[in-house]
Amino acid sequence: MLKQYLLSPGPTAVPERVLLRMAHPMIHHRTPQFSAIFAETKRMLEQVYQTSNDALMLASSGSGAMEAAITNLCSPGDTIIYVNGGKFGERWGKIAAKYGVNAVEIKVQWGDAVEVAAVEAALNANPAAKGVFLQASETSTTTEHPVREVARLTANRDGCVTVVDAITALGVIDMPMDDWGLDVVITGSQKALMLPPGLAMIALSDKAWALTESATCPNFYFDLVTERKNQQAGKDTTAWTPAASLVIGLNEVLKMMFEEGLDNLFARHALLAKAARAGVAALGMKPVSTAPASSATGAFVPEGVDGGAFVKYLRDTMGVTFAGGQDHLKGKIIRIAHLGYYDVFDITTAMSAIEIALNRFGHPVQMGAGVAAAQTVLAERFPAQG
Ligand SMILES: Cc1ncc(COP(=O)(O)O)c(C=O)c1O
Repeated sequence: MLKQYLLSPGPTAVPERVLLRMAHPMIHHRTPQFSAIFAETKRMLEQVYQTSNDALMLASSGSGAMEAAITNLCSPGDTIIYVNGGKFGERWGKIAAKYGVNAVEIKVQWGDAVEVAAVEAALNANPAAKGVFLQASETSTTTEHPVREVARLTANRDGCVTVVDAITALGVIDMPMDDWGLDVVITGSQKALMLPPGLAMIALSDKAWALTESATCPNFYFDLVTERKNQQAGKDTTAWTPAASLVIGLNEVLKMMFEEGLDNLFARHALLAKAARAGVAALGMKPVSTAPASSATGAFVPEGVDGGAFVKYLRDTMGVTFAGGQDHLKGKIIRIAHLGYYDVFDITTAMSAIEIALNRFGHPVQMGAGVAAAQTVLAERFPAQG
């Protein structure tokens, strides 16, 4: 037997309570029973978004909602600005190109956050831009971008919105959509929402909804205007067959999140991230990011260790699944997830596994150094006694 631990930044671990809820016999989605669950789930989701607008659920992975954002807000020939500081930022440009939308790239070195001044300059150079598209947490580099500051730049520009891929940020950090003036916020089920993959969520501000009225990019399945009509209170359904078991699972997840309390949940994520950073630093592994995210921690594997083989060994020989690097970081980094259903002893497990693997790869490592550094931070999670 090899016990398995899933410590990747998506899919993430699903709580037992949620698995059990989803294992109930299937119910039909065009029924008052499902609509009641749907309506309650949507209301709770909007509280996590911290918005008075509709948070819509789509049966797709997160990328579907990214595509929906572009097709519902833009027309062919329009210009958008996007931040490309990693694999997911790059995706905005790829989607835009498919729809004939002119995407102006702000290239950011992988691991760095975008500079607000660079966004301002791009907006000034492209006054007709429909929006700035960026990640709140760029998972490929475990980096946070300053979405609040970017939203301030678009706030006073007519017809120009801030579109945030919060796929590894919503439910991790406090990013109140309405207060911060974020116009579109997207997330996916298999990250902080502790569910299997297959459900995407998207909310739009009034300003973003106004853009949908003139947008002419083709869409059918991801027509957000149609979805909103169906999903709004009173109808409480979806345009197409929903990912019903995931919606039901989300209902349970959101209850768990509110039982914990959002402030406690954000604090837990921040603490785990701090501990993971301390752990890898103690092992002499350099951080990937200069603006590290609370969702996952990326660190370079030591010189002389093949990062691809390292992550594969951890997964296949030791039973601990992390993520490696993508594109030019492939084979060079390891990414440790701490978003969603993770706590203190997941981080100590992660550190312990990395230490043992380093030892097995012949890298000199002081056993326990990473665990100890992480534990020193993690102890804060529990009240002092006596
Ligand atoms: C920040 C970010 N954006 C977009 C995606 C793509 O989402 P999906 O794989 O659910 O389509 C991911 C997935 O890891 C992500 O982390």
